[in-house]
Amino acid sequence: MTVSHSDAFVFFGATGDLAYKQIFPALQAMIKHGHLDLPIIGVAKSDWTDDQLRERARDSIEKNGSFDADAFAKLSARLQYISGDYQDDATYTQLRKVLGKAVRPLYYLAVPPSMFGPVTEGLAKSGGANNARVIIEKPFGRDLASAQALNRTLLASFAEEAIFRIDHYLGKEPVENLLYFRFSNTFVEPIWHGDYVASVQITMAEQFGVQGRGAFYEEVGAIRDVVQNHMLQVLALLTMEVPENDLTEVKDVSADSAQDAIRDEKLRVLCAMRPLEPSEVIKGQFRGYLDEPGVAPNSQVETFAALRLHIDNPRWAGVPFYIRAGKELPVTCTEVMIELKSPAKTVFDKTGSNHPNYFIFRLGPDMKIALGARTKLPGEAMIGTATALVAHHHPGDEMTPYERLLGDALQGNAGLFTRGDMVEAAWRVVDPVLESATEQNSHNAAPIDVYESNTWGPDAAQKMMTGSDQWHNPTSKDMLP
Ligand code: BG6
Repeated sequence: MTVSHSDAFVFFGATGDLAYKQIFPALQAMIKHGHLDLPIIGVAKSDWTDDQLRERARDSIEKNGSFDADAFAKLSARLQYISGDYQDDATYTQLRKVLGKAVRPLYYLAVPPSMFGPVTEGLAKSGGANNARVIIEKPFGRDLASAQALNRTLLASFAEEAIFRIDHYLGKEPVENLLYFRFSNTFVEPIWHGDYVASVQITMAEQFGVQGRGAFYEEVGAIRDVVQNHMLQVLALLTMEVPENDLTEVKDVSADSAQDAIRDEKLRVLCAMRPLEPSEVIKGQFRGYLDEPGVAPNSQVETFAALRLHIDNPRWAGVPFYIRAGKELPVTCTEVMIELKSPAKTVFDKTGSNHPNYFIFRLGPDMKIALGARTKLPGEAMIGTATALVAHHHPGDEMTPYERLLGDALQGNAGLFTRGDMVEAAWRVVDPVLESATEQNSHNAAPIDVYESNTWGPDAAQKMMTGSDQWHNPTSKDMLP
């Protein structure tokens, strides 16, 4: 494969929210770290000047708290603005002119999904798609059928290798570490299957609500917003088979086989996930959601989902996988817990914990790995206590996911991006429990369970655990279950 670094960065939706919150800060960080030295062109409909775009960039980076005068001056000097309608050919002709000698531009479509088609078509018609790359941001459709239609639209103008679908979870350091930790430790892989693993759970808890994004949230709900993408991607990394390739090459842009080896294995396990049964999914809505601007007065959209999932392959047969994600929960924290089965013969602590050993991976806001073990309490009696061996703790990520992912896309490294087939496989898993927006808000639907803020969702979510399984509620302080 011939790969070359992109030689221009173009972002559509330059005046919008995504550019403001993520793209400008990431661009400044890349310049600061010496990773970006090329023309940067913003495109949007507003009748702005280059200077107005620079002001917007300054404001975005200042609000984000990371303003750096030197790096910003360089960013400012490279920023140009094109005002144009995404449906007008003249916009793309103008863009081609401004791109000048650039032959491998990277286009970031920070625009609503309804504009993905017009922009990619406009680029293709003007010759701007040749040799170029394109980044799109979730949502990648709202169900399997619309995701397939979106893939067809994108593929009409760009080859799959040139499409970079961002799932920002894959750009997180602790998420990359899951892959590394699993496949580089002798003590992990031999027990990483149903003979030893009792259950796996992932909790993505957010202490805040929809933060003014009610209208957007009405279109999605928790399952579409974070389960179909972030949670299933994390689950795929935890459960995929060992890729055959040497994974040290995964950061080598010319080694597309290593990048695809991981993505192929993730696809295989996504395909082995059994489509969700409605009876194994609990949905809830926090009290107060209906008062949010942009939310329908009778909205049945879920702000919380808890589900049990099964993977039908030899490694994971019989192991329950639990996923829980919600807004207005007691903490903001994403944690994975792998509980190991009890020893075949228990000689101590017969009445103690059923599953004394576990792994916990905290994926945010900080990064931690802990191993749960039983140790003897000092004294005469042979009784024990739960001990968490914190194997690794890192305060956070120096590189934001967007900085990492934009840098990879500019280099043509697709390893941390989802592929069209993976996106479709993930929709296949959640499709049976999605309702259309009309159904979600229909008066005939059974009313959704309401939960109080600062709780772990509706009671039904507690009751869905089977056998000796229990939810592990992450806290911001310690890692003991
Ligand atoms: C986004 C969702 O994809 O991820 C948001 O749309 C959610 O609703 C966010 O809050 C969480 O991301 P992070 O990186 O803060 O965990």
